[in-house]
Amino acid sequence: MRKIEFFSLKNEIQLLKNEIGQEIMKVLESGKFIMDTNVREFENLICQYFGVKHSVSVNSGTDALVISLRASGIKPGDEVITTPFTFFATVEAIGIIGATPVFVDIDEETFNINPDLIESKITEKTKAILPVHLFGLPCNMQKIMDIAKKYGLIVIEDNAQSFGAEVKINGEFKKAGSIGDAGAFSFFPTKNLGAYGDGGIIITNNSKIFDVASMLKNHGSKVKYYNEILGYNSRLDEIQAAILKTKLKYVDKFNASRIEIANRYSQLLQDFPNHIKVPKFDSGIYKHVFHQYSIRVLDGLRDEFREFLKNNGIDTFVYYPYPIHQLPLYKHLDLKLPVTEKISKEIVSLPMYHLMDLENVDYIVEKIKDWVCTLSKYGSYNR
Ligand SMILES: Cc1ncc(COP(=O)(O)O)c(C=O)c1O
Repeated sequence: MRKIEFFSLKNEIQLLKNEIGQEIMKVLESGKFIMDTNVREFENLICQYFGVKHSVSVNSGTDALVISLRASGIKPGDEVITTPFTFFATVEAIGIIGATPVFVDIDEETFNINPDLIESKITEKTKAILPVHLFGLPCNMQKIMDIAKKYGLIVIEDNAQSFGAEVKINGEFKKAGSIGDAGAFSFFPTKNLGAYGDGGIIITNNSKIFDVASMLKNHGSKVKYYNEILGYNSRLDEIQAAILKTKLKYVDKFNASRIEIANRYSQLLQDFPNHIKVPKFDSGIYKHVFHQYSIRVLDGLRDEFREFLKNNGIDTFVYYPYPIHQLPLYKHLDLKLPVTEKISKEIVSLPMYHLMDLENVDYIVEKIKDWVCTLSKYGSYNR
């Protein structure tokens, strides 16, 4: 029986090991490991890639969020509107700086924050919107930016999962992360652009956010040993910057590979809409880069579906089984966010990583078709 991992870097490492190995050796030989040429070069390359003025590399995506929020002037007691369907770090960052997350339900098809529900949650304490571009698909930034403008709110994009994705705004495609006041990215190894360790970056066109973020990442100092505010030790190291600088050259190719895999899944799985819903989005507005390929399994059969695939050697994963508003920290709010609650019970992600063999996709699809056949008792599909 085949064994298909949910995620693997084997093909990537095979492709890049010589090039990256040489870059790592150069760092070792230089003896300079913190805030040196690789970090500067990588930050410049990121500015070029996103067409923004500034970038501040940091130690993780979580720090990118915390530092962006603080650098944008969000203070304890301020309210920040966000999604309950994300990795915990999004909400954690808001809470850690003493601000209050305000949850808005998601859209059933995109799994992203539903922009039509945002306005009703705005109060005089609301200072920012923190949209998350989930699974590689950007949020509807046109609507979000219009609301932010109307109410004078800051927008910080959590772009941990959508490096290279694009969304149309004012008639033009723009890269996710470069649209709001700041964009926060994670380079966790599984991301579309991943380090071989932890890392993150903030991008912005706002020079005040840039200045404050640059201080916050380095103990609140611009000048060595002249510390002006309380900050963090949150620096991307030279080895990770050298790795990321090299991988950045390939990221569009990696995203194209993910898109090809996703298209194949979608094309082959679209015939069973009574059981499985494949990702749906308007390609005239969004360029999806498929950090995850997440489907919905209907009728409460998700866990049975996963078990079937597991017994056929295929790993799957659930992002995210617990809506954040139902976690211990927020349960007392007793919020009802029905779309998030429903999706968290139906969603499952299939194996997806760049350079994955297409043969594996075909095998997975075959097994899913076998599973659908077992459902003939539901009066549906027969091959
Ligand atoms: C949506 C989202 N936000 C924030 C983060 C935090 O990034 P990191 O793990 O680099 O701290 C992640 C990473 O998994 C994420 O997926």
